Amino acid sequence: MEGEFYYPSQDAIAQTYVRDWEALAESARNDLQGFWAERANELFWFKKWDKVLDDSNKPFFQWFTGAKVNIAYNCVDVHLQTFRKNKLALIWEAEDGKSERAFSYYALNREVTRMANIIKSMGVSKGDRVTIYMGRVPEIVFAMLACAKIGAIHSVVFGGFSVDALQGRIADSESKLVITSDGSMQNGKLVELKRIVDESLRHCPTVENVIVVKRTNHDIPMEGGRDHWYHDLCALPIANGKCATEVMDAEDPLFILYTSGSTGKPKAILHTHGGYMVGTYTTLKYVFDINDEDRFWCTADPGWITGHSYLVYGPMLNGATTFMFEGGPAYPYPNRWWQLIERFGVSIFYTAPTAIRALMRFGDAWPNKHDLSSLRLLGSVGEPINPEAWKWFHRVIGKERCPIMDTWWQTETGMFMITPTPVVPLKPGSGTRPFFGQEAEIVDEEGNPVPDEQEGYLVLKNPWPAMMRGIYGDPERYVRTYWNKYPGKYMTGDSARRDKDGYYWIIGRVDDVIKVSGHRLGTAEVESALITHPAVAESAAIGLPHEIKGQAIMCFVQLKPGFGPTEELSEELRKHVATHLGPIARPDEIKFIDKLPKTRSGKIMRRVLKARAQGLPEGDLSTLEE
Ligand code: WTA
Repeated sequence: MEGEFYYPSQDAIAQTYVRDWEALAESARNDLQGFWAERANELFWFKKWDKVLDDSNKPFFQWFTGAKVNIAYNCVDVHLQTFRKNKLALIWEAEDGKSERAFSYYALNREVTRMANIIKSMGVSKGDRVTIYMGRVPEIVFAMLACAKIGAIHSVVFGGFSVDALQGRIADSESKLVITSDGSMQNGKLVELKRIVDESLRHCPTVENVIVVKRTNHDIPMEGGRDHWYHDLCALPIANGKCATEVMDAEDPLFILYTSGSTGKPKAILHTHGGYMVGTYTTLKYVFDINDEDRFWCTADPGWITGHSYLVYGPMLNGATTFMFEGGPAYPYPNRWWQLIERFGVSIFYTAPTAIRALMRFGDAWPNKHDLSSLRLLGSVGEPINPEAWKWFHRVIGKERCPIMDTWWQTETGMFMITPTPVVPLKPGSGTRPFFGQEAEIVDEEGNPVPDEQEGYLVLKNPWPAMMRGIYGDPERYVRTYWNKYPGKYMTGDSARRDKDGYYWIIGRVDDVIKVSGHRLGTAEVESALITHPAVAESAAIGLPHEIKGQAIMCFVQLKPGFGPTEELSEELRKHVATHLGPIARPDEIKFIDKLPKTRSGKIMRRVLKARAQGLPEGDLSTLEE
């Protein structure tokens, strides 16, 4: 099966940017900085860099030092000076299909400028943090770009998270302002975002103002002096003037995005204006081959890195037309997405294996109802795609014409790291090879490279422009988490293997990160939500293989004396996690246990729980207590 190659068509090769993959890879190998400088030269800089890469203080790499730039200027303003001024930047459709909005680059500029003026009028200036907590509506894009324009640091929190997650992220970032909406629609149901904000803000003293976008139009309480309707603010004269773009250093912070790691609370991954811009611009251009004729649809939510890099920044840097849909794949019917591809003439469609597997289940008749001939490229991200789902996607959606770009990367990497481009022969389930300028290695526990075909830890050897610049406010944790284990190499936290053709196969996380439907969650977060329930003495969460979701969450719970293991309590605990952390984190199963297996030093042995749950051998138990 692994020898099976899918070759690109001559058409696909003829029209793509990178026709000679080997030659470009070679040039990047020989001159990494030259490669990236050439890409950077395609973008607009108020002042060019003194140095492409400054690696004098590893692992605190810096890119394009000395340069002056603003990513929002490159996403919006530069296009106003070209024919793209009147080209569509963003097309949006509501979940219920009853409203549709479209913005040219000219209109986008107006919206971003207005939002920027309003944010500024709330006393936010360069370097201040702004939390954005919304559904998939155009205003989330305006808010992100507006923050970037004035040099504020945005922290987008996924709208599927709830009070505990939101509160922790607002508090940690010390945001001054929260931008939200009254509610959002998810599968026909109202999610009361503003109420969740209200609850979160009880313990977040730094927040001075809340801007509320009207979306669902249901009654919500507004706190005088703190809460403001966005449409009221838009009517004020201050909103409608011009707004100067802040001239930023290339290394100035652009955003933080919280992501789950092995232990403790989520980490605030920091990205900057210059390097992130060059990385997302280049990868989207080369991998998804973006042209002016394209309509690009990335189904990710802006609350995750995929939404940041490839729904907002990457497409707009390329002056592309991007489509955003408020809803999910199968509501109200399993043809919702296929209908949208047909209606809007989507040509490049980028989604996640979990969605493909779910839609595949409904059968071929649903997609076959629609004319999908506008498609020319497909993409996958978030978790390994099983060959069965890959082939279905290729055959039924792509009609065997559209290559699938299986892009491996992370919140931390900011941009694609292991990925094909349209000319690379594909193997279902493999992300093929590292992107230009990157070298990946599979190593053992000690950091020695393992032979081909053998499983090991995936590490990256070269710096890249969109790499994280650290964990906001915690430089020591950055070094400890990513760079200490294999000095000089970036530890990805994934296991993988390389085959005899040099193709990489990602196996999965080696730490306590769970990927549920492509969403990245930490076992620690689920456990801290459980522990706030009065019946729970202690708990351990693990991820188990799941046919559609990739992984499912299973929790082992040790109850406090006086509580009995009942079906009702189990349901109550699942609900508890959903209410506190978010519906996406709702455990699939709760197992009551008398005593959690621990090491003598008191660490929960998740490995043992995982093995037990799957009926597998429990392995070395010598460190187990008693
Ligand atoms: C996993 C998402 C296999 C991987 C962009 C990584 C993948 C984690 C792929 C990062 C892929 C992402 N094939 N696994 N194409 N893409 N992953 O930060 O385990 O939400 O470490 O970024 O997702 O998740 P994150």
